[in-house]
Amino acid sequence: MRTTATVLREMGVPGPFAETRPLERVELELDPPGEGELLIRIRAAGLCHSDLSVITGQRPRVMPMALGHEAAGEVVETGPGVDGFAVGDHVVLAFVPACGECRFCLEERPALCEPGAEANGAGTLLGGGMRLHEDGGDIHHHLGVSALADHAVVSARSAVVVPDDLPFEIAALFGCAVLTGAGAVLNTGASALSREGASIAVFGLGGVGLAALLAAKSRRPDVLVAVDAVPEKLELARELGADVTVAAGPDAVDQVREATGGGVDLAVETVGNEVVLAETYAATGRGGTTVTAGLPHPSRKLEIPAISLVAEERTLKGSYLGSCVPSRDIPEFIRMYREGEMPVEKLLSHRLTPDQMNEGFDRLARGEAVRQIVMFDS
Ligand SMILES: NC(=O)c1ccc[n+]([C@@H]2O[C@H](COP(=O)([O-])OP(=O)(O)OC[C@H]3O[C@@H](n4cnc5c(N)ncnc54)[C@H](O)[C@@H]3O)[C@@H](O)[C@H]2O)c1
Ligand SMILES: [Zn+2]
Ligand SMILES: [Zn+2]
Repeated sequence: MRTTATVLREMGVPGPFAETRPLERVELELDPPGEGELLIRIRAAGLCHSDLSVITGQRPRVMPMALGHEAAGEVVETGPGVDGFAVGDHVVLAFVPACGECRFCLEERPALCEPGAEANGAGTLLGGGMRLHEDGGDIHHHLGVSALADHAVVSARSAVVVPDDLPFEIAALFGCAVLTGAGAVLNTGASALSREGASIAVFGLGGVGLAALLAAKSRRPDVLVAVDAVPEKLELARELGADVTVAAGPDAVDQVREATGGGVDLAVETVGNEVVLAETYAATGRGGTTVTAGLPHPSRKLEIPAISLVAEERTLKGSYLGSCVPSRDIPEFIRMYREGEMPVEKLLSHRLTPDQMNEGFDRLARGEAVRQIVMFDS
């Protein structure tokens, strides 16, 4: 069949993207779903900084690539050998397909799935195939999803069934922002929260950071601190429950440490900058834990005082996919949303039409958006 997807042909094209237009809406040939795959009609898809980082070249990927990895839609067709999905099911797509059989999948750490990482690195689906073609050439898949499109073929291992009555524009948020941000706190950071009333700080208040903030709030910390460079983000964080807000800058670390009696128990970094990660680490106190979800350029190195890891028993943990098991955690995070424990609808800052994506990525780069959801209503 034919589908219209959002293709990036070259990384590093300078902005503003509204003028240089690195993203093209292109009609492509889409193969039917192969073994273990699904054809999805995409209904809503978000603009995440990880897509922006492919456009800028901060996250180098193989070109040309069809972008988008945070989405919800409905199953239109199931390929051979698919279990657990039926035509008409509503699904959220997760950005690491989990093979279910490798060492990490068996240890309930599918974010580290080896075949999943290999496929994502190669820009293929989990089975190694590419289903999008243009004039005989292949277009690579972004993270097995490529969902800024009317339709997508994905591995069934990338999809999780969600309730039919959850609006698609909300459901999409669970695919990346909520999975990553809430998971960073509730999964990766869990051991730091075993004490009643622990203090928590979140550095970076985009879609991922504000989802982390909402999850942190659900744990009722004694003090919840939010740090960002954009004043409007600090205002929003206050509305969402931050007790203290701190403007990014040279004395941000001191301010966080002062507000929390010498440093937080758990600090979460969601900016994607190694200097901010060092600050996030510096904001933790004795015995504190730093969780990092941001994705700096692969060449960047982190500098922290090594002795503090030992002498102050501090911990530094990476969090990919929020250390989630999507089939377990997406339903749980949806439950928390529905029971009012995590008002994730507050992350939805803009609704876009498919022709507004270049402008949308400019807005994301300027820090003026939380989650912009592109609606595919046609
Ligand atoms: N680990 C994962 O699985 C995963 C998943 C999704 C996204 N990511 C990464 O997480 C990061 C955040 O993604 P997002 O979509 O929320 O991005 P975003 O652009 O929406 O948010 C980033 C925020 O950081 C703020 N910021 C910029 N400089 C700052 C500074 N010096 N101090 C404090 N805040 C600062 C910006 O104002 C913005 O609010 C990106 O690096 C993205 O690639 C990781
Ligand atoms: Zn993302
Ligand atoms: Zn696996």
